[in-house]
Amino acid sequence: MAHEMAHPGAHVVGGPWGITRRWFLRLAVLGSLGAVATQAIGCFIHFYYPTRVGTFGGRVLAGKPEDLKVGDTKYVREGKFYLTRVPDGYLALFQKCPHLGCVVPWKPDDPTEDGLAAKGRFNCGCHGSIYDRYGVLKAGPAPRPMDFMPITIENGNLIVDTGKATTRAAYDRSQALPV
Ligand code: FES
Repeated sequence: MAHEMAHPGAHVVGGPWGITRRWFLRLAVLGSLGAVATQAIGCFIHFYYPTRVGTFGGRVLAGKPEDLKVGDTKYVREGKFYLTRVPDGYLALFQKCPHLGCVVPWKPDDPTEDGLAAKGRFNCGCHGSIYDRYGVLKAGPAPRPMDFMPITIENGNLIVDTGKATTRAAYDRSQALPV
């Protein structure tokens, strides 16, 4: 019988396994510690990667700096921005056209406007506003360059704050995250 197998002096808690009260308490403490540890890890992950996917308006992961060379452009759909690399560094350009709000597509086979690569420019299909890799207006009815968003590097990743799209009258190197 389980009663006779238990450690001398230990009390047997009922149930099919016949575990002792001491072991029952130890398991209960371990279970509590596990729950606390799981919660702590969850908070840690939430703090460092609070918004990764489908979270326009918050901080969005844009990839690794080494993913882009000068002249490259990458679309980050969940953040509604383009990441471009120019000689001064990285730029995050809001996809919304400053004219009447259409989504500005990147046209990789259009002529270049900046000379950073053989081809490619932003070309809004609604009324024909043209922008280079800096988001600077080159032609069309838009009143200003594409808006930009601040970029930081955290744990080797580019993070864009999509809640802080900023208007500008011209490009300035302070808008780019330096390489
Ligand atoms: S909305 Fe882009 S040019 Fe009019």
